[in-house]
Amino acid sequence: MLKKILITQPLPAERLSELAALCEMEVLEKPLDLADAGGHSDLATCHGLICLLTDRIDRPLLDVMPNLEFVSSVSVGVDHIDVQAFTERQIPVGHTPGVLVDTTADAAFALLLAAARRVAEGDRFIRAGNWRPDSRWSPSFFLGKDVSGATLGIVGLGAIGQAVARRAAGFDMRVIGWTPSGREVAGVDSVSLEELLLRSDFVSVHVALADATRNLLDAAKIATMKPGAVLINTARGGIVDEKALFQALDSGHIYAAGLDVFEREPVPMDNPLLQHPRVVVVPHIGSATTLTRAKMVDTAVRNAIAALQGKPMPHCVNPAVYSG
Ligand code: DGY
Repeated sequence: MLKKILITQPLPAERLSELAALCEMEVLEKPLDLADAGGHSDLATCHGLICLLTDRIDRPLLDVMPNLEFVSSVSVGVDHIDVQAFTERQIPVGHTPGVLVDTTADAAFALLLAAARRVAEGDRFIRAGNWRPDSRWSPSFFLGKDVSGATLGIVGLGAIGQAVARRAAGFDMRVIGWTPSGREVAGVDSVSLEELLLRSDFVSVHVALADATRNLLDAAKIATMKPGAVLINTARGGIVDEKALFQALDSGHIYAAGLDVFEREPVPMDNPLLQHPRVVVVPHIGSATTLTRAKMVDTAVRNAIAALQGKPMPHCVNPAVYSG
């Protein structure tokens, strides 16, 4: 009998054809909601799960999916998954590293340039009908910050952080970096997080969200940032204290921010950051290009196929499950 896997949201059919030949697939019509587990009548019969970063995949799911043999997430980040709980049950968890590196680095750089040069603010200014003869080009009109020659501090020197460093070199930036692992990267001066925050004109966040990095940039750390600095976050919202960031922007200590990710997503409309003119926001689209999203689904599918065939997933976040 074919095994059955649950897919928490429709994915492009053409990317699933190889998988479809190997198993039965059930695609959820409404978001996975364990409070309403009865609303997903088939959970107990599924052997595999393909999920997104918007799904909460934790311990209670194991109770309603007793036959679960693997989880494959269409994301590189796995902070939405209680990996420990799945490791305890010897269930492999797959993710999609590598394929979204350049696309996400491009997004970080887009936000950096937009925040530095007030792109979103200028766009709103024109559309609101404010570009009039009495408010037009002058030597002090819409001044921003230079990127060229500035110091960029990269928090997290994994693949995405390194790709941002390469882009920064092309913009003649000085690049310094800090990473929890202490990794050294060519072309990046490794410094402590404290020194990075003190020296950087731009800070771009690229660590994964985990217990050790939750609130990494809290009020105390933000207070030590170089006056007039710009903060870019394309990693995860929980890494930066949003209230503290807003206060630092409001007081003028921080010049601007470019945010792709938020503590709560979709970001509530009453989040004060949305009202601040120097905050450029986009809705968690760091990896959102047609090609990259296709590669992410393909990677998740390859992880699922390996698991269905009883082989190790090519990209597994808890490989310890294979040594038991
Ligand atoms: C991921 O895969 O974790 C990214 O946040 C998607 O953009």
